[in-house]
Amino acid sequence: MSIVFSDKLLGRLAEAQTVVAFTGAGVSAESGVPTFRGNDGIWAKFKPAELANINAFMKNPELVWEWYKQRKQIIASVQPNPGHYALAGMESLFPECEVITQNIDNLHRRAGSTKVHELHGNIERNYCMKCGAQYSNEHVLSVVGAPRCTQAKCGGQIRPDVVWFGELLPENEWKNAMRAAERADVFLSIGTSGVVHPAASIPPAAKQSGAFLVEINPEETPLTNSVDEFIQAPSGEVLPALLEQIQLMKLTKNKVH
Ligand code: OAD
Ligand code: ZN
Repeated sequence: MSIVFSDKLLGRLAEAQTVVAFTGAGVSAESGVPTFRGNDGIWAKFKPAELANINAFMKNPELVWEWYKQRKQIIASVQPNPGHYALAGMESLFPECEVITQNIDNLHRRAGSTKVHELHGNIERNYCMKCGAQYSNEHVLSVVGAPRCTQAKCGGQIRPDVVWFGELLPENEWKNAMRAAERADVFLSIGTSGVVHPAASIPPAAKQSGAFLVEINPEETPLTNSVDEFIQAPSGEVLPALLEQIQLMKLTKNKVH
């Protein structure tokens, strides 16, 4: 499939100092990580309120842990896809290139992106709710049932380092994400349904600050009407093609000068 990018987008990319990608579950779909809201999305099988929430966790930590251990194992067994790699490849092509992600799967870092703002945490990390001690996935997966802190005299509940419904986003990640959005010359919203706030307010904020707003998604979303360019295709196909175009453009520009 050949993807055509508008001259306007390519022109903005040619001049861009700062390119920011904002990603959701869709960017990992081609890696085999289920999205949240599709037909076979995670929430089609489980109700979010039943599992990803602190009250549910305190009431039934074993059940919530069983679900997270399963997700940790799925995520550990998948690989970044060409979309993740293409975003990582863009870092060397712009003075500033950052990723803001709602995903907890760590695939952007595994693909080589170094400036990643994780708005919803990271499933590879775990911490004790009482003393804050950090625990590896290896440790929590080796424990049967809900793991407890092993620090002397603590014994607190260990939880995954992810943001649950009703919880605040990590302050630093949020600030850095907003700062990046406000600086962006080109802002790519990729594979997100754009319905979960406050994260969903980031693309409009980028546009408000003057960014050229691009959406990459096989489906329309509530954001589609307000973007400058909508590329209706899977990110694992669009992003490598876009990277190639940018590389080509930079190469020709260098030759001309
Ligand atoms: P959703 O499952 O809500 O949306 C996934 C989006 O990806 C949809 O718009 C799909 O059309 C699109 N999509 C599917 N396949 C794609 C592909 N190959 N390429 C590009 N796009 C594709 O997931 P999010 O928007 O990430 O929060 O959900 C946001 C938040 O809701 C999640 O971070 C999570 C959840 O509650 C927390 O866990 C706090
Ligand atoms: Zn502890």
